[in-house]
Amino acid sequence: MDRMEEMINEPAQRNSVCVFTNLTASEKEMLKECWRSVVGQLIVDDQKVEDFGKLLLLWLLDNVPNAKKPFKKFDANVTKASLTKNPVFLNHCRMVGMYLGQMVELLDKPVELEMLTHQVAINHLSMKPSVGTAYFDPFQEKFPRFMSETLQKPLDDPLIKAWDKFLMVLTGKVKKSEKMIAKSQKCAMC
Ligand code: HEM
Repeated sequence: MDRMEEMINEPAQRNSVCVFTNLTASEKEMLKECWRSVVGQLIVDDQKVEDFGKLLLLWLLDNVPNAKKPFKKFDANVTKASLTKNPVFLNHCRMVGMYLGQMVELLDKPVELEMLTHQVAINHLSMKPSVGTAYFDPFQEKFPRFMSETLQKPLDDPLIKAWDKFLMVLTGKVKKSEKMIAKSQKCAMC
């Protein structure tokens, strides 16, 4: 790691806002603490990670318009009971949970967090049909309600606000990358 990277990755002062995540150091601590209490030791407890992913995915399928359509490896148009018995769906839940855990772990390492979110944004945008802002924007808009119900805290609780900003790191990346891809496609035609 060179000096520049070290400087970027240095823990922020408690009240200063991280330029990449828009989170303060105390919000980052709050998120880490909350993730630990929800899933155990960050990404260590596999079953809890899967359980959280399952909760989020089931909610996403119900709340984000047309969200069942793009899933190809499992049929999302079945009952919840049969979906939650499908090992492919459960594996996907684990992956989503693990990915969120990795994001939480990297909150103090913006360079690596940037790389991780870039990779997942590009993966979603490269799907056919593309999974971009049409899905991620409504997801972002409704996510605070999901966290508020899951954590049993009011929408204006600082923790819920911190989770909202946290998801924005990924959805913001999706938005930027989608614009870049659209520009580069125009460029390819000129
Ligand atoms: C918190 C937000 C999300 C996270 C953390 C997440 C994470 C992931 C991960 C880790 C994968 C595996 C592929 C990869 O490595 O990129 C994946 C696949 C996928 N995600 Fe997401 N995702 C999120 C939101 C969404 C949304 C809003 C949609 C819209 C419906 C979506 C649709 C998909 C689809 C269709 C696949 C491919 C799975 C298949 O082929 O069946 N994801 N996601």
